[in-house]
Amino acid sequence: MRVALEFSRYASQYNSRNIIQAKVAQKLLSLVPKRDYSRVIDIGCGRGEVHRNLIDQGIPFAHLTAMDISKPMLHLHPSGESIIKIEADFNSSDFIKALPYSHYDLLLSSSALQWSQALESTLAALAALCDECYFAIFTSETFRSLQLYTNTASPIYDEEILKEKIGQHFDVQFETVRYKLNFDTPYQMLRYIKESGASGGRQRLGYKELKRVIENYPYKYLEFEVLYASPRSKKQ
Ligand SMILES: C[S@@+](CC[C@H](N)C(=O)[O-])C[C@H]1O[C@@H](n2cnc3c(N)ncnc32)[C@H](O)[C@@H]1O
Repeated sequence: MRVALEFSRYASQYNSRNIIQAKVAQKLLSLVPKRDYSRVIDIGCGRGEVHRNLIDQGIPFAHLTAMDISKPMLHLHPSGESIIKIEADFNSSDFIKALPYSHYDLLLSSSALQWSQALESTLAALAALCDECYFAIFTSETFRSLQLYTNTASPIYDEEILKEKIGQHFDVQFETVRYKLNFDTPYQMLRYIKESGASGGRQRLGYKELKRVIENYPYKYLEFEVLYASPRSKKQ
């Protein structure tokens, strides 16, 4: 629930803070073949970056289930006759019961599954929902330099674990992409982490440590690492 609270708290600011997530959704959707899809589901939809890219990149769909744990995020997601918004938690063992359909022909999840606390069961449930799944998941290399500097461990999965677990359920190919985001000051960098929900409400630094980062942190950028998974057989 900490993750949901963090996203809900900053839902209204999220759009101006989600520069990297916007790039990630754009790339994820660029991997999707432009066919007609009848039922699409977006897991951890937020305010609709995936929906925006379905439209912008000309990927036709008849129905979209937009699922998220955060009510304020869902509230900000576009509405429409072809969209059903579902408030559900992918950590819960029976979240698929909350969905309007038991099977989808396209499943997308961008920048959300790093917060799965039960990766095995979440992935098993997603595999039962759809055969054609596209994931973009942040890895533990995200914020690497800051974590080294503050001697903190990443709260999210590393690339190898993600590949292993995803590979157990899906026949996919992987691509890992690194991004860098520059800031004028370490303070702005820390604000970004807070307001983008990227900390997931975990691993907060104490006052002394925050002060040390603000005053002495030697870098003016954050690193992000994203693992993309897309169906192997769909690529030529
Ligand atoms: C970084 S945002 C990404 C949102 C959107 N997919 C995008 O690309 O901008 C992560 C989203 O995952 C949602 N989320 C986190 N944990 C979740 C959970 N356990 N079940 C469902 N959604 C969750 C958050 O509420 C948030 O909207």
